[in-house]
Amino acid sequence: MLKHDVVIVGAGLAGLRACIELRKRGVDAVIVSKVYPTRSHSGAAQGGVNAAFDENDSWESHFFDTVKGSDYIGDQDAIEILTSEAPANILELQKMGVVFNRNDDGGIAQRPFGGQSFPRSCYYADAVGHMMLHGLFDNVLKYDTKIIYEYFVTSLVVDNGKISGVAAYDIKEGKFHGIAAKAVLFATGGYGQVYSSNTNALINTGDGMSVAIKAGVPLMDMEFVQFHPTTLKSTGILVTEGARGEGAYLLNSLGVRFMSKYAPKAMELAPRDVVARAEQTEINEGRGVDGAILLDVRHLGKEKIMEKLPQIMQLSIDFEGVNPIYEPIPIRPGAHYSMGGIKTDNNGRTVLEGFYSAGESACVSVHGANRLGGNSLLDTIVFGRRAGIDIADYIKNVDFSKFDESTVKRDEEIFENIKKSAGKERHGLLKTELQEDMRKNVGVFREESLMKKAIEKIEELKERAKNVGVDDKSHLFNTDIIEAFEFKNILLIAEIIAKGAVMRQESRGAHYRNDFPERDDEKWLKHTIAKLNSKGGIDFDFSPVKITKFKPQPRTY
Ligand code: FUM
Repeated sequence: MLKHDVVIVGAGLAGLRACIELRKRGVDAVIVSKVYPTRSHSGAAQGGVNAAFDENDSWESHFFDTVKGSDYIGDQDAIEILTSEAPANILELQKMGVVFNRNDDGGIAQRPFGGQSFPRSCYYADAVGHMMLHGLFDNVLKYDTKIIYEYFVTSLVVDNGKISGVAAYDIKEGKFHGIAAKAVLFATGGYGQVYSSNTNALINTGDGMSVAIKAGVPLMDMEFVQFHPTTLKSTGILVTEGARGEGAYLLNSLGVRFMSKYAPKAMELAPRDVVARAEQTEINEGRGVDGAILLDVRHLGKEKIMEKLPQIMQLSIDFEGVNPIYEPIPIRPGAHYSMGGIKTDNNGRTVLEGFYSAGESACVSVHGANRLGGNSLLDTIVFGRRAGIDIADYIKNVDFSKFDESTVKRDEEIFENIKKSAGKERHGLLKTELQEDMRKNVGVFREESLMKKAIEKIEELKERAKNVGVDDKSHLFNTDIIEAFEFKNILLIAEIIAKGAVMRQESRGAHYRNDFPERDDEKWLKHTIAKLNSKGGIDFDFSPVKITKFKPQPRTY
């Protein structure tokens, strides 16, 4: 059995940022990751990270924009922390070697992003996630940190209401290990793979959230799923909001900039929920172009496209066969981000002592019902840092608790049983059915009858999942078996999303109900809390929204 004071699960930005705080304080912290750190999904982030730097901007304005963007269900104490700590966090990244584009005066260049009253997204062309991920990883290496990569964490090990470590499967060797720890941080990212047509890496299967809820840790606000307005039509690959920040237009089949109808002031730079619905309405009402909308950057000119948006230019050429210098890009809304996640406080603590979460796997909640673009990278560094500092303090006064190997043995048996199974179902096919069903029935527009169909489908898939067999029976790097396990995770997450969405009888942010088109603050200004009951079913509860400064108002752009 391995033993370390702190186990950080996930090597994206939140995990790396927390790790730096721990390692610089001399803490024995290891990173355990399903993939090599620089392959983490944070590297796919393109357009920007927000902070109010300009003398005509203020963190208070960023605070308000974020509260309004969240459709007033984000917790305002947490949003105040996010936005007031943003500038110092970005400057700290600079000192660590993260490079940003510059203004002529040498300051950090900032571009406009949706739903924000000032251009405050700091960027590095259209590859800011890549730049931040590599910069932070360099710093983690500088502290000589142990990285255990290609390990898949399957369970939390808990003793008497306190964390004692994790069970993990070594993908390379095909063996299970226990890893004892005084504290565990999950920075395991989101669950975009619940949906077809998503911007997420294949690794984003909600593993951390699924493992957490199975260990009794509640998930919050899972019905709020962000659909990014601009993803390539054929593959769902992200086309950054930075394109619209630089001045791109959205056109329907009539060549009309239709956003004037939906958000006359903000136009293409309305928040994502508003733009995604506008696009879907145009498509549904027959003004789409082969099921898509056109994103036009041609008027920006070749030089600007190549300087500011080189990645999306190449992605459009490689995956859509379209060169944006000469032709508009066919795009459509795609699942992008999980506003909900593991319920934490402002330092990443969960209800389970010694167990923390930060980044997309966590719900603090700073994004509420709709995240503003550029606030996710910010969330990872602000709350990753805070979690790292808090954990360093926490472990000073605690011992390792008893590590019960039976959890590891149980997971080993589950894997062995999947491997031995002669079952005829295949996880890949079941996943495709689930993803397509979730897209159609619990997508941009929702209504009870469709969501109930999705729940029926999930029940059917749960039965069929019992009969999943794998073709690869080997030990070494058996991705077939990992994917079978991941499928169980996304199935559980899908069930929580769909049931939470049926229950929330209102429209708020990204959760839009055709059958309840208005926001209902009287009944629904509250967080949804999901827990597993003893029969494996989902129980829902509610918790109040923390409103410190801004009372809910009508949300127009
Ligand atoms: O559009 C983008 O570049 C994505 C940014 C984000 O999700 O924050």
